[in-house]
Amino acid sequence: MCGIVGYIGPKEAVPILLDGLKKLEYRGYDSAGIAVLKDNKIQIKKRKGKIVKLENLLEKGAPKGNIGLGHTRWATHGKPNNLNAHPHNGCNSEIVVVHNGIIENYMPLREKLISEGHNFISETDTEVLPHLIESNYQNDLTLAVKESIEEIEGSYAIGVISTRDPGKIVASRCGSPLIIGVGEGEMFLASDIPAMLNYTNRVIFLEEREIATITKDGVKIVDSKGKILEKEIINIEWDVEMTEKSGYKHFMLKEIFQETMVIRNNLEGRINLTANFLELSEISFPLKNIKEIEKIFILACGSSYYTALVGKYIFEELTGIPVEVDYSSEFRYRKILLGKKDLTILISQSGETADTIAALRACREAGSYILALTNVRGSTISREADSVMYIKAGPEIGVATTKAFIGQLMSLYILSLYFAQVRNTINHTEIKKIIFELIKLPQLVEIVLLKEPEIIKLSEEFFNYHNFLYLGRGINYPIALEGALKLKEISYVHAEGYPAGEMKHGPIALLDKTFPTVAIVPKDKVYTKVINNIKEVKARDTLVLALATEGDKEISNIVDRVFYMPQTLDILYPILSVIPLQLFAYHIANKLGCDVDKPRNLAKSVTVE
Ligand code: AGP
Repeated sequence: MCGIVGYIGPKEAVPILLDGLKKLEYRGYDSAGIAVLKDNKIQIKKRKGKIVKLENLLEKGAPKGNIGLGHTRWATHGKPNNLNAHPHNGCNSEIVVVHNGIIENYMPLREKLISEGHNFISETDTEVLPHLIESNYQNDLTLAVKESIEEIEGSYAIGVISTRDPGKIVASRCGSPLIIGVGEGEMFLASDIPAMLNYTNRVIFLEEREIATITKDGVKIVDSKGKILEKEIINIEWDVEMTEKSGYKHFMLKEIFQETMVIRNNLEGRINLTANFLELSEISFPLKNIKEIEKIFILACGSSYYTALVGKYIFEELTGIPVEVDYSSEFRYRKILLGKKDLTILISQSGETADTIAALRACREAGSYILALTNVRGSTISREADSVMYIKAGPEIGVATTKAFIGQLMSLYILSLYFAQVRNTINHTEIKKIIFELIKLPQLVEIVLLKEPEIIKLSEEFFNYHNFLYLGRGINYPIALEGALKLKEISYVHAEGYPAGEMKHGPIALLDKTFPTVAIVPKDKVYTKVINNIKEVKARDTLVLALATEGDKEISNIVDRVFYMPQTLDILYPILSVIPLQLFAYHIANKLGCDVDKPRNLAKSVTVE
C-alpha cells in the first residue's frame, strides 16, 4: 500500500505535499518523492527511505510551483531505491504519474511500449502508466488517462499531471482508495483523510473507475463511460489533533491510551440504559431476517481475523447461531457455500484490504447479506456492504492495530447481544447483566492502563529473548494469537500464538529456558485446564508470564511473573487481556529501538493481494 497526495491552488505545493506525505507515511515508507509543475516544466525530486530523506533533499532546493503530486511507497515491484521511487515520468517529463496498487499486465504493456520506442529506467509496474498515457495523448489529458486505464488490469489509484495540459490534476482509482479534498480556491488529492485535515474536512470519495479532473476551482468527475457525475461532498468529523501524537512518543502508545474512549464511543447511542435494551438503528438489517439467520460467516485478515475468531465464541454463546470464520485470502478461493439465510460479516479497520474486498464481492455474488465492521467512512468496504457498523476508533495511524482491535471487539459484543435480544436466545436478566459489565469496561481498562509501569518492568526482564510462545484457551485463544502478532510485527522477535490445549501436540518441543511462555489464564470456565497446561510448560524449565484475574492466589505459586487483570465476565476477558499484551509488545519493541509506528516491510492497510 502506498500514499498519494496532490495539490492545486494558489499556494506553494511542496510544503503541502510534504505535510500530507508525513500523515500518510504509515501507508508505506520504502521511498518518497514529489513532482511540481511550473512554467511548462515538471520537476521531480525523490529518494529511497523515509520521508525525512526527501525532506533533507528538498532543503537543498525545493521546486517552486502550485500544482504537484507526492508519493510514499511500499514496494511491490522493484526494490526500494531512487530509480523505483515515485513519481514516474514518460520519455520526457511532460507526463508524470504517482500510483498505488499493482498493474498485473505491466510486462506485456512494457514490451509493447518498448517496441513503440519508449525507454524504461525503473523496475516498477507503475512506469508503464506515464508511457501509456503519453502514447494515448492527443490533446486532452483526461481522455488519455481514460484510454490508458482501460488497457490496464489490476488495482490502481493514480494522480497525473502534464506540461501538455497544465492547470489540472487527473485522478482515478480501481481497488485502491482516493479522496478529493475541497478547499476555498484550492483542491487536494490523497489516499486517506489525515493527509488533508490541515486544509479541509470537506471530501469527495472517488468510486471505482471514476475519473476526476481537478482544477483549483473544483472537480469534474466522470464514470468509466464518460458520463458526468454529481458527487456528494462529505464533512469529516475527524480533526487534525486526532492525527497528531499529542505528546506520546508513538502513535501506537497514544492509540492504546485512547481505548477507554473507544469503548465509550461504541456503547454510546447503542444501549438504552433505562430499559437495558440495545438499539442498533445504524444497521439496516431487517429484524425478521435476524430471526431467520441460519449461519454467520466472518471474514477478515490479520488482527481483524483474530477479532473474528473472538466473534465466533461470542455469537455462538449468545445467539446459538453457528459461525464460520475464515481468512479473506483463503475464503475467496474456496467454493462459496453461502445461502440467502447466511449473514456475512466483514471486519476491516481500513475498509481497504484487498483480500477482504474481494471476499465481499464473492459473497455478494453468492447472494449473502453483507454487514461490514470498519473504522473508515467512505472506504471501499463501507461503500460496498449492505450495512455498516462503524467501530468508532477514530483515525488509527500506528501500523500495528490496537484501539481499532478494541473497537472491533466492542462492535462484536454489541452486535451479538442485539441479535440475542431480537432472537430471544438469552433472557432480559442475562442481557442486563452483560450490559452492566460492558458499561464497567472503561473503568476496568483504566485500571489496566494505570498498571503500565508493571508492564514496562516486565518488558525490561523479557526484551532479550528471541522466541515466545503465547497460550490461550477458548475465547482467549485468539488473544494469544493477537499478542504474538503484536510482538513480532513491531519488535521482529519471533512469537507464536497457540491454543493452550494444543501445545502438547508439538510446540512444547520448542520450550526450554530460552523460550518464555505468555499464558492468558483468567478465572474462567477453562481455568484449571490452562493451569494444567502451564504446569506442563513449567516442567520444561521455561519462564512463564501469566495474565490472571485479580485475587487469584494460586497462580503466583505456579508461574514466574503475573500481571493481574480486574475481574469481569468470561466473555469480556479478551478486552482486558489484549491491552497488557499490546503494551508488552510496545515496550519490548521500544526497548529494542524499533520504529514502532512504521515497522519494516509492513503497511497500515494491505491494498494489494
Ligand atoms: C495488525 O496489527 C496488522 N497491521 C494487520 O494484521 C491488519 O490487522 C490487517 O492487515 C487487516 O487490516 P484491516 O483491518 O484494515 O483489514
